[in-house]
Amino acid sequence: MITNTELEYKGDQFPSKIVSFEQDVDSIYFYTDNNVILKVTILRDSLIRFRYTTKGYFSNDFSYAIDKTQSHGYNQLEVTEEPTFYLIKTSKVFCRINKHDVRVFIYDIDGTPILEDEIGFHWEECYEHGGNIVKMSKISKDGESFYGLGDKATHLNLKGKRLENWATDQYAFHKDQEPLYKVVPFYIGLHHNKAYGIFFDNTFRTFFDFCHERRNVSSFWAEGGEMNYYFFYGPKMSDVVKTYTHLTGKPELPPMWTLGYHQCKWSYYPESKVKEITSKFRELRIPCDAIYLDIDYMEGFRCFTWSKEYFPEPKRMVAELAKDGFKTVVIIDPGIKIDKDYWVYQEALEKEYFCRRADGPYMKGKVWPGECNFPDYTNPEVREWWAGLFKELIAEIGVKGVWNDMNEPAVMDVPGKTFPNDVRHNYDGNNCSHRKAHNIYGTQMARATYEGVKRFAYPKRPFIITRSAYSGAQRYTSSWTGDNVASWEHLWIANIQMQRMSISGMGFTGSDIGGFAEQPSGELYARWIQLGVFHPFCRTHSSGDHGEQEPWSFGEEVIDITRKFVELRYQLLPYLYTMFWQYVNDGTPMLKPLVYFDQDDFHTHYRTDEFIFGNQILVCPILEPNAQGRRMYLPKGNWYNYWTHELIEGKKELWVNTKFDEIPVFVKEGAIIPKYPVQQYVGEIQFDELTLDVYFKLGKEKSLVYEDATDGYDYNKGRFSLRTFTLTGKDKELIIQQHKEGDFETQYSKFKINLNCLPFKIKRIELDKEKLTLDKVQIKGDNSLIIDKDFTELHIFGS
Ligand code: GLC
Repeated sequence: MITNTELEYKGDQFPSKIVSFEQDVDSIYFYTDNNVILKVTILRDSLIRFRYTTKGYFSNDFSYAIDKTQSHGYNQLEVTEEPTFYLIKTSKVFCRINKHDVRVFIYDIDGTPILEDEIGFHWEECYEHGGNIVKMSKISKDGESFYGLGDKATHLNLKGKRLENWATDQYAFHKDQEPLYKVVPFYIGLHHNKAYGIFFDNTFRTFFDFCHERRNVSSFWAEGGEMNYYFFYGPKMSDVVKTYTHLTGKPELPPMWTLGYHQCKWSYYPESKVKEITSKFRELRIPCDAIYLDIDYMEGFRCFTWSKEYFPEPKRMVAELAKDGFKTVVIIDPGIKIDKDYWVYQEALEKEYFCRRADGPYMKGKVWPGECNFPDYTNPEVREWWAGLFKELIAEIGVKGVWNDMNEPAVMDVPGKTFPNDVRHNYDGNNCSHRKAHNIYGTQMARATYEGVKRFAYPKRPFIITRSAYSGAQRYTSSWTGDNVASWEHLWIANIQMQRMSISGMGFTGSDIGGFAEQPSGELYARWIQLGVFHPFCRTHSSGDHGEQEPWSFGEEVIDITRKFVELRYQLLPYLYTMFWQYVNDGTPMLKPLVYFDQDDFHTHYRTDEFIFGNQILVCPILEPNAQGRRMYLPKGNWYNYWTHELIEGKKELWVNTKFDEIPVFVKEGAIIPKYPVQQYVGEIQFDELTLDVYFKLGKEKSLVYEDATDGYDYNKGRFSLRTFTLTGKDKELIIQQHKEGDFETQYSKFKINLNCLPFKIKRIELDKEKLTLDKVQIKGDNSLIIDKDFTELHIFGS
């Protein structure tokens, strides 16, 4: 155990004793006699903010991460003073604050210690930059596990790791490499079956140590700014994740086409090449909704320009692609080429919108276009200007989505690969250096892009994808995990990154399918597609340096596998859209690691490969070459093998055989999985039937199907359709009840109900309490019925 004296010797300082306290509605201030103030604010009974200053007063309270539109509120708050401590009590937790050293101890209402300060808050003065290096250490409990932190390329369970948050262009990163592109200083701790969370809302370079340095200590610190963190109490991990997502904000629903398959490469040009690619998709009947234009579509990499040689008539091309169902997405980077004849450069220069160095000159750095200046997106006026730049691209040319890249920000050929620390930023009126603004630069760029695309795409919904992001970026943008590598290790990493992003509030994420750097074998590409169709964002992308990476680049077998899995994704669109709606609605992560699914089962704490896609489908990728199957863990409950319909009892490890054109996929018993017909792109065909794949269960299970116009904002005015299906299975009976909410009329009026795995033969059917003659229901095959009305109860009797 490190003592305060040893740390003092190293230059650390500590709060001294509390001399007074006061309460102001939801906030309690504790004052020490060495100018430390701890401000504790109760946002919800299970959400408490801790904010420290060492100056005797607080600076302006400003955060880009917190969603100010979200409301909070608590039921109970009592503050009492005892001889040696203060006690703050809500309906969910007790919080004890020591009088003599300001250490904080949090217990749940059963009295179980949830999170206790070890040394607690301490700091080191930073003479070079001013301010403090702010530090926090907590006692880690026996058997504690840690999760979260966004895009980290390491084991899902972070126990034993030290991690760094500094947005970095990390080309061809490898397992355990730090830091990466995104910064999500939020983690979840789990011990004694109880979960809590910490969000350290500090945009400086931050570090987290989960029992790496010292066995029973977890700690986090920042190179500047305030010790300012939010504590979330579960006890369920889902409570922690939902509350965190609520605090930092949820996205709006994306247009449904963004959940289709996307094709990208650096770069498809000229126009004839783009058309060749899109035609091939249609010819091979591999569904695809979006085609991307990487930097070569521009004139000399100047943002908001088009190469006259490669794309002489972008508006016509984009319209032609749209006719064939392809939405065009274009890349826009932050670096603005220094070129006095370039209008974007001229405007920004004239308006003084570029970031400046400490002594005055503009920040200059090399990126794709050569020497560039960089807009200061932390200035609201600059964001407004930037948003306006999208008018032509979106409103006139008809581009449907914008891809923001290099926004860590990346600078080439310099140490650190980014801006120097002295660069100045507006930070929405809280002027600061790059040390503070670096980690949110990418998010503010994506935010400005979002504002612009949203404005000019109206009444349609915008689509933005970003590489760099800080907590809260999910309100504006989707993301991808940057420049990965075509290797089996990276397939493992991608699987973990997407689960981790999902439980870190940033669910709309995917990896470059097949790998960005280097060339995948056909087998690796196929295995990646098989996983990628179960990721919220699904796009093949590659650097183009090593050959072709379209689904047809690897021979017939891989074409067939790609088609099969992309078709499955398109069939599952209503399921995928429903899980997105749940994410938007209450912060439920779209992908759930097994530990999230059943935290009480200790076996799940170190599982990485299996995950729950939505609520009722379990997926486990094949992560090795030549696999004939794999060992995996099935969590609690009974699960049907999707391919064989075999019912398996969970909470055990098992071996699952797979063919090359399969990966282990299981459906929870009792689930009703909605499916659309295969379409080559969203909205291609009108259909009059929703398929419901019903998986029998003895007992009850609920399933949801959310639908709306697939685009636009009418859903906010009640024009949505939410169907709740309740399945009740008995010995020789199956009842499916449907409850419908919302005013939206779905295009179909019939249901094709596939009664999978029925343990009895159908004898009689009642629809809404009326007996149906079996010929009226059209029984197809054994157990598939067509019902041509919006039923409320389907009752099947067996013999
Ligand atoms: C970066 C991006 C990559 C893109 C390339 C060229 O490396 O991460 O996706 O293709 O730049 O724009």
